Amino acid sequence: MTTDLDTTSIKSQYRALQQAATLLNNARRICILTGAGVSAESGIPTFRDKQTGLWEQYRAEDLANIDAFERHPEMVWSWYQWRRNLVKDKQPNPAHYALNDLQQWAKSHSKNLELITQNVDDLHEQAGSYATHLHGHLWKNKCSQCDAAYTDPIDYQQSELITCTLCNGNIRPDIVWFGEMLPQDAWQHAENSARNCDVFISIGTSSLVYPAAGLAQLAKNNGAKIIEVNLNPTQNPLIDVVLAGKAGEMTPQLIKLLQSNDD
Ligand code: OAD
Repeated sequence: MTTDLDTTSIKSQYRALQQAATLLNNARRICILTGAGVSAESGIPTFRDKQTGLWEQYRAEDLANIDAFERHPEMVWSWYQWRRNLVKDKQPNPAHYALNDLQQWAKSHSKNLELITQNVDDLHEQAGSYATHLHGHLWKNKCSQCDAAYTDPIDYQQSELITCTLCNGNIRPDIVWFGEMLPQDAWQHAENSARNCDVFISIGTSSLVYPAAGLAQLAKNNGAKIIEVNLNPTQNPLIDVVLAGKAGEMTPQLIKLLQSNDD
């Protein structure tokens, strides 16, 4: 049975999708920022979700942290090994594929689309997209002391620390932690993309962690329209169009609407 309330919210959701599609049709440059919510439907918990099992008494922010690694390297390394086990068999979901379709759509309409992600998984790449990673890569490692890349294969079942063959420092995941700078090239690219876009889309991010959370403001300051896709919208007054719902449902609907406008 469909109630009046359901009908109203379906109508307003469709209106929002149409507004978003119009903005994208009129845009020449599009910048998309994704966060953990994009991978949630693949079965990867978001950062603000409470942790489960072995790690339920810890907050992710207290482990994804340079101070934590300096004080308790074994603990932080074994948390990342646990996360790698959690993520290793996960597959892209309809949101990742829809974003790849959106990249193809933009290309075929001579629009520039830049996909920037805060996620450290590689599900955008698995879905065929190219993404700029602001917070590093879960599957890469480096030395915490001399910074050299560590490329030997790693057994994700093993929680003991590994040491660098060059300087004996502890090997760590190549991820940006709280208290660390973002990779300069990736950040510069994200900043330029946000500053120069006509439409900025924020998908599945709580927009709490800076500097990434500041990209929407930068886009807005330069005249861009802002679209948000979020299961629990952030209520940020910057946003022009809110697509309230799952990324894996809203993003495919958006691309379908854009493609149907082409027919
Ligand atoms: P958060 O965990 O802070 O936020 C996830 C967002 O996704 C929330 O706003 C949810 O409402 C939304 N969400 C959840 N499921 C969704 C779904 N199926 N569809 C759409 N939205 C959904 O994750 P991030 O904003 O990515 O940094 O966190 C930013 C950074 O903080 C992370 O990259 C990480 C973290 O600490 C580092 O590790 C440096």
